[in-house]
Amino acid sequence: MVSTTPAGLQIRPRHMDFDLPNPLPRHWHGGDAFKSHWFDAMSVLFPDGERFFIDSVRHFREQIDDPLLQEQIRGFIGQEGHHSREHLEYSNRLRDLGYDIAAIERRAQVRIRYTQKKLSPQRRLAATAALEHITAILADGLLEEPRYLAGAHPTMARLWRWHALEETEHKAVAFDVYNQVCGNRKLLRRAMLMATWFFVLDTSRGLVHMLKRDGLLWNWRVWRDGLQWMWGKHGVLRPLLGTYRDFFREDFHPWQHNNLELLYRTRTEFDPQLEPSTA
Ligand SMILES: [Fe+2]
Ligand SMILES: [Fe+2]
Repeated sequence: MVSTTPAGLQIRPRHMDFDLPNPLPRHWHGGDAFKSHWFDAMSVLFPDGERFFIDSVRHFREQIDDPLLQEQIRGFIGQEGHHSREHLEYSNRLRDLGYDIAAIERRAQVRIRYTQKKLSPQRRLAATAALEHITAILADGLLEEPRYLAGAHPTMARLWRWHALEETEHKAVAFDVYNQVCGNRKLLRRAMLMATWFFVLDTSRGLVHMLKRDGLLWNWRVWRDGLQWMWGKHGVLRPLLGTYRDFFREDFHPWQHNNLELLYRTRTEFDPQLEPSTA
């Protein structure tokens, strides 16, 4: 089978216009600097990152004969395009608060340009499939676990839930395209190691920058509580490790982790006319 997305699951962009709070409360996530800036640091990377994903998939579009996967590619491009737009607005709010967003963006752009010059299209697609797995597991955690966004500004929470929902809907698209046009698992695993390294590095750098500007970089309580929230006994990231590791299995594909029920449940927040069973 060419597409591994569950039968009948439509991938369509939702045209959202979030009207983000202006000015953005600096610590919009329940007054917590660490949590707010961890999300902020990811968000700043999205517009360039998602454009890179779109380009990587689009490069192979012509080689895909399967009409269903073609349609899903269209949905994927549409969704990522909308995410970029909303997250750019988010970046502007952060700029207004005095953070050096341009420096973070520049670093991401330099890296993307480097990969476009030095890596083959297959490797760029492998990197895209790997990063899509990282976003898919983060999205799954976010939708599943209320502690992810507990206490957050409601509009910000809605933005993140919308993004997480669509990441879940299209989580297999880049992977399926990769399988069609290349499929080399060794390359894919290597891409995952690189993707993980740069994802952690870049989000950490963004987080450090924003905490520094807030004068909280050397506040041990901020780090203790933040790391506890992520990796502690009931940490939000800890349960995702197993699904992360599944990517390295020879027979892995993204819908082996079947969270369709969670997806349909979340859809009712954004597509209220749909009943969970028919969504
Ligand atoms: Fe996205
Ligand atoms: Fe995505």
